[in-house]
Amino acid sequence: METIFSGIQPSGSLTLGNYLGAMKQFVDLQSDYHCYFCIVDEHAITVPQDRLKLRENIRSLAALYLASGIDHEKATLFIQSEVPAHTQLCWIMQTQSYIGELERMTQFKDKSVGKEAVSAALLTYPPLMAADILLYNTNLVPVGNDQKQHLELTRDLAERFNRKYNDIFTIPDIRVSDVGARIMSLQEPTKKMSKSDDNQKATVYMLDEPKRIEKKIKSAMTDSEGVIRFDPKEKAGISNLMTILASCTNQTLDQIEEKYQDVGYGQFKQEVADAVIEVLKPIQERYYDIINTQELDDILDHGAEKASMVANKTLAKAKKAVGLGRVKKRK
Ligand code: AMP
Ligand code: TRP
Repeated sequence: METIFSGIQPSGSLTLGNYLGAMKQFVDLQSDYHCYFCIVDEHAITVPQDRLKLRENIRSLAALYLASGIDHEKATLFIQSEVPAHTQLCWIMQTQSYIGELERMTQFKDKSVGKEAVSAALLTYPPLMAADILLYNTNLVPVGNDQKQHLELTRDLAERFNRKYNDIFTIPDIRVSDVGARIMSLQEPTKKMSKSDDNQKATVYMLDEPKRIEKKIKSAMTDSEGVIRFDPKEKAGISNLMTILASCTNQTLDQIEEKYQDVGYGQFKQEVADAVIEVLKPIQERYYDIINTQELDDILDHGAEKASMVANKTLAKAKKAVGLGRVKKRK
């Protein structure tokens, strides 16, 4: 069975976009692959975080993975900082990274532009991501389009290491999720729906109450044509709502276009809201069942243990390959 690794940063409340674009697909993948799902808290601190909020977000993200249907017996769910091998291999990967190539990363440029003080960790974010992936002999990494560049760098670093030292890393393939799964902001539908949007009305959070979800979707930006037709350029708002409805109800865009031919925006929005609520409600119920339990801690302890076993083996090989440490003498 092939191995999948993916990570989500605990840097805010998860959105409907995270669910439809990432988690829902992870749930489908866990039966066919060896899966590692990681809460990448060390990546989150590359930009300033409130410590208490971070703690809360880490636990919340773990509970959301499980509530969404990740089965801890099939997949390994764990917190990055609880498996020290990640930062240890990251150090070795940093020795293989050139400052120039790290400075060329779009995310680094975006996050550092106009800032007076930029942490070194923001620059060395990609070698940590490479370490995450390479520790588990990962074959496939499902990510959003914005992470493609980091994945390409991961492949370069792994190949560079293998050539220079020993062939120990598996070169991972990239799986960019379908265009259909890109959920846009409800208020500015040409922009991605994001955890970090300041406008609360733009984003449906996975833990929003049904009434709030309904209100947000009803006030989503549309157009004045009054026709439900998929046209992301001219009708970004309606097209986004169609994508949301399609993903939530497993229908195609064509089916939706056909079904809502003679329906007005008001009623259409109501049906989109109902579909989103129907998807999120059982997830929210499971979330509140598990968030404050010891069971959640046990799952994360077990996940970190299982992950460490695999990660430490790869780390030991990498250390040996570059000549770190020593070989013990026997009498
Ligand atoms: P992020 O929230 O940027 O840390 O992303 C975590 C995961 O959720 C990545 O796999 C993203 O591709 C996915 N994701 C985030 N926002 C969206 C969105 N608006 N539509 C689809 N997928 C998303
Ligand atoms: N950088 C990714 C993001 O912001 C999160 C991440 C960290 C990740 N390590 C990873 C994703 C390894 C996939 C594989 O979305």
